[in-house]
Amino acid sequence: MTSRRCCWSRPRLEGALLAVLLVARAFAAEVPAAQVPGAQMADAEVPLAIHAPLGLPALPFPADNPPTAAKVELGRKLFFDRRLSFNGTMSCAMCHVPEQGFTSNALRTPVGNEGASARRNAPGLLNVAYHPRLFHDGREGALETQVWGPLLAPDEMANPSLGHVLDRLRDLPDYAGQFEAAFAGRGASADTVGAALASFQRTLVSGDSRFDRYRYGGAIDALSAEEKAGLAIFTGKGRCAACHLIGERDALLSDFRYHNTGIGWLRSQEGAGVEVELAPGVRARMSAAVVRSIGAAPRSDLGRFEITRDPRERWAYKTPMLSEVAATAPYMHDGSLPTLEAVVEYYDRGGAGAPGQSPLIAPLRLSVTEKAALVAFLKALSGRAGRP
Ligand code: HEC
Ligand code: HEC
Repeated sequence: MTSRRCCWSRPRLEGALLAVLLVARAFAAEVPAAQVPGAQMADAEVPLAIHAPLGLPALPFPADNPPTAAKVELGRKLFFDRRLSFNGTMSCAMCHVPEQGFTSNALRTPVGNEGASARRNAPGLLNVAYHPRLFHDGREGALETQVWGPLLAPDEMANPSLGHVLDRLRDLPDYAGQFEAAFAGRGASADTVGAALASFQRTLVSGDSRFDRYRYGGAIDALSAEEKAGLAIFTGKGRCAACHLIGERDALLSDFRYHNTGIGWLRSQEGAGVEVELAPGVRARMSAAVVRSIGAAPRSDLGRFEITRDPRERWAYKTPMLSEVAATAPYMHDGSLPTLEAVVEYYDRGGAGAPGQSPLIAPLRLSVTEKAALVAFLKALSGRAGRP
């Protein structure tokens, strides 16, 4: 994989500013085109340098799809375009809401085409460029190909086929010439739609959090005493940093591996009943038998096992990067934990005691003060993109 990827250079201050600028643009603010390097040049040719902000390593991208201003702009248009869904009502941004860390706060599992609920929680997309594999179970290897997942999923954008999406794009007058301009004469195709959306998503970087400034920027006062205590628990007796990694020069806060935290098993437990979303925000707990009788049985979810068929990976999910984690509630692959307090309580209890649960997740016996400190620290992981 390393051979496919190359890297951005990283002058720090300038990089942070550009990253913020790009994220600000993703948040739908109008920024004159002149501020995007290359925007007024021959777009297809000029690579767009996206510098990684403090706390992040150089941004990876595939050698055959270097971002350019034209690709990023086209990808942004596609990302926010509802006409990309079968019935014209649903864009990527409706489940990945910019103001909510590119996830959806209202729904544990987002509602897609015609009210069908997706099986899992929509992950936040900030820093998604760093994920070597995509989706909670890592079934996709590149942003370029991942986009066809939601575009074709019956419970998401519900298009009947790839060709259907391409035909629609070719018919839309406001896309006329745009693919050709961004891709050296190539029109809308499975490849170019993927490459444009991937390029836009790579600009969604978030770093330079108060934690980053404390850890990597030499700003010893950037964290409060409580947050520093939370950091000590995160890297010490909480064992959080065993999976949510903090490096010498940067912190991706994920090992990008798959772990059984007990959440998936908990959800699979029949007798426990299931929480049903009757309307957005209105929930009720029903026995699994009742839910089945009204035809909405919870769909089985075995995590990474579904991809590898390795029994040791049953209920294992990818470690999230915790980017802007304060903004991306609800948490976990099924959105079952509504707040950061609930997440910390869950880990403090030692998870669910599930079969095959990671041995790193065991009762922590934190005091009330320690739990509050850990939550305070998690909130300090928000970068500029999360601040007004
Ligand atoms: C109906 C809601 C919905 C829509 C619309 C939607 N997504 Fe998603 N997205 C999800 C869910 C749910 C997942 C997690 C699915 C899983 O892991 O199985 C996801 C996962 C992803 C991921 C993987 C992130 C990671 O951390 O691994 C990316 C990237 C992504 N979506 C981008 C897009 C793009 C681009 C579009 C538009 C073409 C889009 N999504 C449309 C709900 C949605
Ligand atoms: C064994 C590895 C491991 C350890 C140890 C661990 N985590 Fe996690 N963490 C994960 C995985 C895997 C997930 C995703 C689980 C899922 O999707 O069901 C996760 C999810 C989370 C989330 C939710 C993020 C989101 O976007 O949904 C938070 C917050 C979190 N962990 C914080 C912590 C804290 C705080 C600790 C220490 C008390 C900790 N983690 C310890 C692996 C780990």
